[in-house]
Amino acid sequence: MAAMDIAVEVGTSFTTIYLSGAGVVLREPSVVAFVGDDDKKKVLAAGYKAVAMQGSAPEKTRVVCPIVDGYIEDEEACAKMLTEFIKRVLPVYVIFPKIRALIAVPTGLTVGERKTYEDIFREAGVAETTLIDGVMVSALGFDLPIDEPCGGLVANIGGGVTEIALISLCGTVSGCSVNVGGNMMDNALVDFVIGKYGLKIGARTARRVKEEIGSLYPNDVSAMEVRGINTNTMTPASLSVYATDVYEALLPYYSHIAEAVEGILNLCPPELAARVHGQGLYVCGGGAKIPGLQRVLKDVLGVPVTIAEDPEYTSISGAGRLIGNKELIKQINVQL
Ligand SMILES: Nc1ncnc2c1ncn2[C@@H]1O[C@H](COP(=O)(O)OP(=O)(O)OP(=O)(O)O)[C@@H](O)[C@H]1O
Ligand SMILES: [Mg+2]
Repeated sequence: MAAMDIAVEVGTSFTTIYLSGAGVVLREPSVVAFVGDDDKKKVLAAGYKAVAMQGSAPEKTRVVCPIVDGYIEDEEACAKMLTEFIKRVLPVYVIFPKIRALIAVPTGLTVGERKTYEDIFREAGVAETTLIDGVMVSALGFDLPIDEPCGGLVANIGGGVTEIALISLCGTVSGCSVNVGGNMMDNALVDFVIGKYGLKIGARTARRVKEEIGSLYPNDVSAMEVRGINTNTMTPASLSVYATDVYEALLPYYSHIAEAVEGILNLCPPELAARVHGQGLYVCGGGAKIPGLQRVLKDVLGVPVTIAEDPEYTSISGAGRLIGNKELIKQINVQL
């Protein structure tokens, strides 16, 4: 039986799969749609196709986001979604391969939560699972020397959660998980637009605005037309929202992240301080894509800030690089 090695990140917003020897082969929204009653429900769609059904699905179709704030909330839906994704990345010429998966997981899982990940992947057809701390693979994605004293200070701003860690000698010296991510920011923008314009837009529209024109530059003049419901007349309406609206709505969230990083920086042991302050902070995750983030973080922290070039791929590329490196995996996992 042929063996196949994959690395997987099951994020709140996206699931990404790296196939050894090929690179990233799948990145799809962590969403799955079912049809039918509970005991005989069938997967209708997963990923982008399931997202397209959100909000317009008929009564018997259920669209589920199995991951909430970085954690698996609906185990059955998660297993079905992963089964679908893994099937998609299997090369057609390999029949029934033995799949081994390196899975990037949130920091500080309990024994029970770790078992949940293992069970779900087994159900999705994976024969061998190895869990690995997500912030470690983020650091590896930046090529940081994680096995040295002070491998680096890393922040991953995701859709549901922001993870921050000061890494040294394959472990976390100090770290935290902040309950702020892209979904919360989308909702903040929805509320902001209601408050300022009396227009209720959907969270998906808010997300599009954020991703297309959003920035943390206070004088950005970009604008975008959006449709929603006038909250006074309750009728459909459209108007322009501006990059400055996104700035006002989102700045408090990014500032909160900056303060959390500052807290970790302040906990830095004196032996590591010179190196940590010298090399500064490395930021990845989809939330790092917003223009102007580097300046906002630098102003608060006063240390260099490096934003990843393709921040949503940093962790998975780090995980991919770790496939087969048994020695380093062992060194990381011994710190758990
Ligand atoms: N240009 C942008 N500006 C701000 N946020 C963005 C931008 N592009 C994408 N994002 C956000 O990045 C988030 C997705 O990032 P990512 O794929 O790292 O999350 P995830 O790994 O699925 O979530 P988590 O790590 O929290 O479980 C979404 O909320 C998305 O809206
Ligand atoms: Mg993530």
